[in-house]
Amino acid sequence: MDKIVIEGGRPLKGAVKVSGAKNAALPTIAACILCSGAHRLTNIPQLKDISTIKKIMSKFGILFHDEGDVLVVNSDNLTCYEAPYDLVKTMRASILLLGPLLARYGKAKISLPGGCAIGARPVNLHLKALAAMGVDMFLDHGYINAGTSGMQGANISFDIPTVTGTENIMMAAVTAKGTTVLKNSAKEPEVMDLADMLRGMGADIEGDGTDTIIIRGVKELEAARHTVIPDRIETGTFMIAAAMSKGEVKIEGCRSAHLQALIEKLDAAGARVSFSDDSIFVKGPDVIESVDIKTRPFPGFPTDLQAQFMAFMCIADGWSMIRETVFENRFIHVSELQRMGANIEINGNQALVKGVPHLLSAPVMATDLRASASLILAGLVAESGRTEVHRIYHLDRGYENMEEKFRNLGANLWREKA
Ligand code: UD1
Repeated sequence: MDKIVIEGGRPLKGAVKVSGAKNAALPTIAACILCSGAHRLTNIPQLKDISTIKKIMSKFGILFHDEGDVLVVNSDNLTCYEAPYDLVKTMRASILLLGPLLARYGKAKISLPGGCAIGARPVNLHLKALAAMGVDMFLDHGYINAGTSGMQGANISFDIPTVTGTENIMMAAVTAKGTTVLKNSAKEPEVMDLADMLRGMGADIEGDGTDTIIIRGVKELEAARHTVIPDRIETGTFMIAAAMSKGEVKIEGCRSAHLQALIEKLDAAGARVSFSDDSIFVKGPDVIESVDIKTRPFPGFPTDLQAQFMAFMCIADGWSMIRETVFENRFIHVSELQRMGANIEINGNQALVKGVPHLLSAPVMATDLRASASLILAGLVAESGRTEVHRIYHLDRGYENMEEKFRNLGANLWREKA
């Protein structure tokens, strides 16, 4: 198992280009199930989660090949509709295959995703919405067995705005009979990106980006041509790293409109942030001011940047209150940051962080994807010696060439066999 070794203490300087968004690429690849033809997707990042969804879809009989930087997906013939436990357990987003399989073939068998490090993360809202659309489901030996004689449009109001839930039902509804109205749907840019792709295939969707999405079922779709949006979480991770290391970094190929909540918080922490539509420049402050954050669905502060921002606040001047309202157990990185000298107290879904002058290098263990990014950031500013981040496979699920990108900004880190 690999670990990343970091010799911290260097301010990051230079420019970095962000990759395509993992959380947008996954649903767009799943959406290729919806109709036959050669779908052409651009800006798909090379990540473990992407190879996992490709592996599952290859089992269905779907073919993938690269043509330069275009991923060509051919879903002419499906021979199997089952997503097995050994792959689904490594990536909960596999549930995204359920909606498109039902839309095209009327059947699917997907392993029920189990618990994960950041909380129970049920899929009940996906299933409830599918039931309202005429899908019969039963649970058998840990698998969701689903079938329908035809998807029906329905009025669905999500109890909680769920990102993959909204995406799943949008895909299920594009060729359903009649109109589907999704209320309290997620407004995340990744949902809008999927809606854009589906419209390009001939779907009739409006309202994405608001909390009511209307999908009028169409008879036929055609193969997609789509470019995935840049990764806002990767962008945000570099922005925080720049501010935290007191460096000066330009992040290129991003969408600043997707990061306004973070821009405001970095500004409040004393960083200088300037931006155009597709680039963001961050200059770290001499003294980091402490700032409170509360995670919220988009356009609020993203839960996927909470751990990284907490690492930043660990070296701020004063107290910062971090409230996690999206997931119930997303503070597992705290005990690792504490091993590096952070002063953090947890009370339920709130973490009170008292800034310390310096973090100290230590061996630490990554526990989930974004937690691993926060430990890398902590290692980049830690003093006296080497920080070793173990179980780095979590990072490979969601960050493309992260070490290389940090090295190009002047950081000293490398990968070793643990
Ligand atoms: C997606 C992102 C993930 C991000 C999260 C929140 C992908 C592949 N993953 O995850 O990186 O952290 O959005 O921005 O896009 N919930 C239920 N029942 C359900 C579905 C969700 O109770 O059926 C709850 C969840 O437990 C959570 C909240 O709703 O508390 C939001 O979760 P959701 O938006 O569904 O997260 P994901 O789509 O899994």
